Amino acid sequence: SNTPVKVAVTGAAGQIGYSLLFRIASGALLGPDTPVQLRLLEITPALKALEGVVMELDDCAFPLLAGVETSDDANVAFDGANLALLVGARPRSKGMERGDLLEANGAIFTAQGKALNASAASDVRVGVTGNPANTNALIAMRNAPDIPQERFSALTRLDHNRAISQLAAKTGAAVTDIKKLTIWGNHSATQYPDIFHAEVGGRNAAEVVDDQAWVENDFIPTVAKRGAAIIEARGSSSAASAASATIDAARDWLRGSADGDWLSMAVASDGSYDVPEGIVSSFPVTTKDGSYEIVQGLEINEFSRGRIDATVQELTDERDAVASLGLI
Ligand code: NAI
Repeated sequence: SNTPVKVAVTGAAGQIGYSLLFRIASGALLGPDTPVQLRLLEITPALKALEGVVMELDDCAFPLLAGVETSDDANVAFDGANLALLVGARPRSKGMERGDLLEANGAIFTAQGKALNASAASDVRVGVTGNPANTNALIAMRNAPDIPQERFSALTRLDHNRAISQLAAKTGAAVTDIKKLTIWGNHSATQYPDIFHAEVGGRNAAEVVDDQAWVENDFIPTVAKRGAAIIEARGSSSAASAASATIDAARDWLRGSADGDWLSMAVASDGSYDVPEGIVSSFPVTTKDGSYEIVQGLEINEFSRGRIDATVQELTDERDAVASLGLI
């Protein structure tokens, strides 16, 4: 249809925003036939920088870009939004404890949850990229009681893509030959990238690799610590790849996952795989038309069980911390 889809992006003047907005405007998210209106949220001191980004968006003369609105008021930015990509967050600064970080982000995501509840379109989908992404998504969800909880997700697609890339390199396969990779749990160093159900060219990935030491000592830590490796090399955190994963995740959520494959997405647990309800945890999911289903019935071996339990424990600890701060 020719009605523009309204996509809200927070933290729009940040690093990820600088890559994300141009790809959304070029049609990478919604496809070549769907016009898009961008609704950009920033904090007041960043509005000037955001103005510069909007000048550059203008200068691209994107055929699909049907308008850009900017604001430092979440109720304005989220007004009528069909998709909200919550990228902006408070980074950890020197001397900041984990509890301080949860509290600072808690303030942002309670306010944004309430604003989404009040202002977004009735079909809104909310994807959280800003860290700590899983718990930020939980806070936004719990502060938006009128929006079904299935409309919220947090980004583990970057971890998923990183894992595909590492597995392809190890096996000499093309990335397109890798299917059914799963990231379980938290978008953090405890995440568990699982190849036991993955396929390489139709064969079981763990059997193709046949090297448990590589899985434990190389693959899992490389994927889990990739963010730190990029900071070390580049001098700033991953941004283009995070933007690309944010696009992949939202595109596949709205337009569907491929037959014979699944994605990793952090969503409200329904108790599947003994992950407690009340946390936002990454699962294998299939998607269609803006809905997702957690893939059921996978056999979880002892190694995977231990890894899933550890990352889930971190999420329940984060949930307890934000609950004790009164944020959920
Ligand atoms: P950045 O610091 O370059 O940009 C963040 C932007 O958010 C800033 O422009 C800031 O002014 C804005 N902001 C802060 N509070 C805001 C609020 N209340 N409302 C609206 N905007 C607000 O950071 P970058 O590199 O763009 O990363 C953004 C977030 O994404 C960080 O939390 C980062 O840790 C996270 N991230 C998540 C990944 C994932 O896989 N889930 C991967 C990479 C980054």
